[in-house]
Amino acid sequence: MLRLEAVSKRYGSRTVVTDLTFDVGDGEVCALIAPSGGGKTTTLKMINRLIEPSSGHIYLDDEDITRGDPVQLRRRMGYVIQQVGLFPHETVAQNVATVPRLLGWDRRRVRGRVDELLELVGLDPVEYRGRFPDELSGGQRQRVGVARALAADPPVLLMDEPFGAIDPIARDRLQAQFLRLQGELNKIVVFVTHDIDEAVRLGDRIAVLKEGGILEQYDTPANVLGRPATPFVADFVGADRGLKRLSVTPIDVGGLDPPGDVADVSRLDAKVPVGATLKDALAQLLLHDAPFVAVIDGDRAVGVLTPDALHAELRRSLEEDGQ
Ligand SMILES: Nc1ncnc2c1ncn2[C@@H]1O[C@H](COP(=O)(O)OP(=O)(O)OP(=O)(O)O)[C@@H](O)[C@H]1O
Ligand SMILES: [Mg+2]
Repeated sequence: MLRLEAVSKRYGSRTVVTDLTFDVGDGEVCALIAPSGGGKTTTLKMINRLIEPSSGHIYLDDEDITRGDPVQLRRRMGYVIQQVGLFPHETVAQNVATVPRLLGWDRRRVRGRVDELLELVGLDPVEYRGRFPDELSGGQRQRVGVARALAADPPVLLMDEPFGAIDPIARDRLQAQFLRLQGELNKIVVFVTHDIDEAVRLGDRIAVLKEGGILEQYDTPANVLGRPATPFVADFVGADRGLKRLSVTPIDVGGLDPPGDVADVSRLDAKVPVGATLKDALAQLLLHDAPFVAVIDGDRAVGVLTPDALHAELRRSLEEDGQ
């Protein structure tokens, strides 16, 4: 577990991160979100001590990592920096191998690790290992940045707006790939973004900071959307937070209409598996212009959801939150 305790950063009389306390469990993604200048990069850099906190402590498991050797510490923390920051005159393989080479791994081990990581992030090693950064697309550079951060298998991964400068389609793919990867690797991840949709999709919990690096709320995506702790959070997550909440609200199978004579689900267009969200259901309804969507378990319909029922479910989930 990574834990920040009353961490602050001051430059002269200006406090840019204020008394920040939160923790991130093993296998958990903390999405850190704030407006520009809100202290996100400063917070990440304090975690790996590229910037020293003015006060407060940071613990990894039970160790106070604000003491001890920062160079040693950084080997345990993969860092994907804002704007990727690949070394332009090094190949993809050399970039990915940065930390293993620093650690003095032998050449065969480094090469094996590089290929393994490129495969992990979906880049064919044979095709990509010898390329230079300017021979890659933005999304590919981003993936090399992630591979480089993972090279020495650090327990902590710090990612600073890694998908910030990428078009929406590539970004969607990278987000899906990141979720798959995290499912396998189970790192402690602090993921900086200024995009609430990205935070909702990727974060197990979301830390919302306002100017001055002041923590306004640290909670699950559903609660940040459904129960914003302050007017700042409500404003930040947007007037369409009810809609956004669709994507984090699972369909309540117990509350579905019975499937009736929807026997042969293979002939139905509009269907979602058990465990899908209200957003998935709505997407199916719109895509197929259907009067209902079947919720299926294997090849069996367990119930159907109509637009009215979908609306009622969303309202109920908001009311449960005391909205
Ligand atoms: N060396 C420094 N001296 C003084 N102020 C600084 C210094 N470095 C950063 N700041 C200020 O600290 C604040 C937080 O900066 P930070 O880079 O953490 O913001 P951010 O949330 O990452 O913003 P962005 O979304 O634009 O990347 C900013 O107002 C910035 O001007
Ligand atoms: Mg930043």
